[in-house]
Parts: sequence; C-alpha cells; structure tokens
Amino acid sequence: MKIGIIGAGFVGLSIGAVFADKGYEVVLVDIDKRKVEKINSGITPLYEPGLDELLDKYAGKSLVASTDYESLKKCEIIFICVGTPSKRNGSADLSYVENACKSIAFILMKMKYTIVVVKSTVLPTTTEKILIPILEKSGKKVGKDFGICVNPEFLKEGSAINDFLNQDRIVIGSNDKKSGDILENFYRKNFSTSPIVRVDLRTAEMIKYASNAFLATKISFINEIGNICKKIGVDVYKVAEGMKYDPRIGEHFLNAGIGFGGSCLPKDVKALIRFSKELNYEPKILESVIHINDKQPEKLVEIAKEKVGTLKGKKVAVLGLAFKPKTNDMRETRSLPLIAKLLDEGAEVIVYDPVANLPEEFNGAVKVANSLEEAVKNAEIIKIATDWEHFRELENMREHLKDKLIFEGRRIFNRKPEGINIEGICW
Ligand code: UGA
Repeated sequence: MKIGIIGAGFVGLSIGAVFADKGYEVVLVDIDKRKVEKINSGITPLYEPGLDELLDKYAGKSLVASTDYESLKKCEIIFICVGTPSKRNGSADLSYVENACKSIAFILMKMKYTIVVVKSTVLPTTTEKILIPILEKSGKKVGKDFGICVNPEFLKEGSAINDFLNQDRIVIGSNDKKSGDILENFYRKNFSTSPIVRVDLRTAEMIKYASNAFLATKISFINEIGNICKKIGVDVYKVAEGMKYDPRIGEHFLNAGIGFGGSCLPKDVKALIRFSKELNYEPKILESVIHINDKQPEKLVEIAKEKVGTLKGKKVAVLGLAFKPKTNDMRETRSLPLIAKLLDEGAEVIVYDPVANLPEEFNGAVKVANSLEEAVKNAEIIKIATDWEHFRELENMREHLKDKLIFEGRRIFNRKPEGINIEGICW
C-alpha cells in the first residue's frame, strides 16, 4: 500500500518515517524544495528524536519526498499534515489546508477511490463546509468516489515518533462508514494496542481543540494556584504533588512556570475563543487561560523587581529561548515577552540557549552568549525561561554565582541548591 503525506513538518515527517518503518511506501509532498532535497538525501530538516535514524534507513528508498502532487496519484490514503497557524485576529489560517485540498482535487480526477485524511488541526465543521466542497470540485463525490476522515494528531514536538508509535488514542471522524472502516483497519493493523474512537467529522475536529484547550487550562490553572501560593510562601510543586494521586486530577501538565508556548496550545485556544464568539458564546474559561498565560512572563520580572528595586542598567541573563527543551522552536515562546519586558525595564539582557536562535528583531538590543558559563559570568540576575536539563549545571558554577540572584520561570531544581540564591516564579 502506498501512503501519501502532505506537509513535511514535525507531524508529517514523523508519521511518514513511522509508516516507512512499518513497511509502507510513503510519498511526502511539501512545497519547500530545499526541505524536500534534504529529506531525500537523508538529512532531517528539523530536530525530532529518532527521526535521523529512520530517515537514514528509508529516505530516498521507501520514503520519498517531492514537491509534485502528481506523485500522490497511486496513494490509497493521503494524510494532510500542513500547518494551520494563527492569523492576527486569532482565527486559524486555513490557506495551507485549502491549497492542499485544491491540489488533491486536481489529482483526484485521475485517481481510483482514495481516502483523504485531515490530520491538520481545523475547527469543527471546516471539513464539511470548506474542505469537502473544494475536493468535490474535482467532479468526484465524497463517500462514493473518495473518502474523507478527520484524524487529529496528539503528538508532542520532541517526542513525536514515540508518541505516534504509542498513541494513547486514535480518533477517527467520518461521515460515511466506508472511509472510517478503511482507516480504522489500517490503524488496527499497525497500532493494535491503541484504543480507537469513532465519531463524525465535526466531533473529531472538536476533540482536538478540546484536548489542547484542556491542556492549556491545566497549565494556566496551576499557574494561577502558583501565583496565590507565592504570596503565602507555599511551593506549588508540593501542592501539585499532593493533588496528583487523585486519579481524577492526575500528575501531568501541572508544572507551574512562565506559561505555555509552542505552535499549538496558544493558537488553538485563541482559535476556539474566536470560534465560540462567532457562535455567540462567551468562552470565559478559555479567555482567562490566555490572559493568565500572557501575564505570566511579567511575573518573573516583578519578583526580581521586588528583590532589587529597579532593573534599569542591571545585567540580566535569560537562560532558554525555545518554547520547551529539546527543540529550537521559538513559536509563541514565553522567553520573548520576558525579554521584551526586561528591555522595557531598562535591563541589559544577555541570552543563552543550547539550540534555539534569538529572532533578528532583537539583534543589537540583546547580547547572545555562546555558553551557559558565558551568560552567567556576565550577569547580575539570571532568569530561567526553558527547562533544559543542561541548566542544572548551574549547581556546579557556584564560583560565578556569588551575590547573583536566580529566578526560575521553569522548575530546574527539585530542591534548593545550597549556597545559591534562587527563587521560583510560583514557588
Ligand atoms: C501540544 C500538545 O501537548 C500535543 O498533545 C498536541 O498534539 C500538540 O500540541 C499539537 O497540537 O500539535 P507541543 O506544542 O509539542 O504539544 O508542546 P507541549 O509539550 O504540550 O508544551 C506546550 C507548552 O506548555 C510548553 O511551553 C511547555 O513548557 C508548557 N508546559 C507544559 C507547562 O508550562 N507546564 C506543563 O505542565 C506542561
């Protein structure tokens, strides 16, 4: 069986590599020519653990990348994995998904029955109201000449391969039984231990948004509790520990800090807010989730000001730029509002991240250190914005940390290292 994937981002590339490893012939279509060339020569265009090894084995052989949609012609299943970034007004930009569908429509005319699988995150009713009509412009009829399913992804950047191999659930949305059955059989054959949830198209779309909104809510919830804890000298991580044994609460996503970033949680919550408002519903919880998240980086600045008064002219090191460790992804990262606020306060900022780069707009305004040591040596105040394990090395740099203050925006140390002045944002 030949499988097509549109979009070679971390989702498309990771699932493509896994399908190749399961023995399928995989065609990966992307508009970025350089990315396509890289993939075909076995080089990963993005950092994702485990991907290197799989590309090394299959790239240019059973996993072939192309810029040409015609190469999808013999595929029995085509997964759409392109991005749906946020527009300025918070709504989801559907242009990549729409373009993918237009290109598929063009080849559908020449194809036998195929299943189009929407993996991209799209708001409820998008597939029915926008994507199916585009595909039907091919003259082919959905449910008869081609099938369509919504099959959201729940992969985390930095563990996408492992998450896909061990999917905690597989959601299949379809409005016709045949398409859903084909996709279900495909998944059952290859991922036999994962539970499968069969629903209609719009429910599958909603499951994705509800899942990300819930995760974001957990984070803003624990950050709010953390902000209260901070006022009374309580460690919110101990509070979370005391909560987690209740199976209704659980232990995940209760790590307080400077908030959530990345390409998914912020944009999905904002898109859901806008969507609800269009339906004349005020999503109060979701709005608070974003509000708390926006304010959290400022808190890390406020706690420093409480200690040292003004930050004007103070040398401040920001450790960590990426939105989370093990990635160089800067999308919606909390480090940027933190840096902007520090600059506003008149601080001299130096940054360090093991892999991520400072965006050009900060060039000149912010110094970049080449090592943790360099950043720390040159600072009076240190702020931790990403929980890279590497930052635990601070414990071995005591000689540089005398008379310096460290403020954790992410929990790096589970116990306060002796002899280091360290304080957490919510602990
Ligand atoms: C997120 C979801 O976790 C995935 O399930 C989903 O498939 C994906 O979005 C998507 O829609 O594609 P991802 O954006 O890779 O995955 O990142 P997460 O690991 O969820 O982290 C998001 C942010 O939340 C990071 O900035 C992280 O530092 C922060 N976070 C996470 C916390 O502040 N506290 C926590 O307890 C957990």
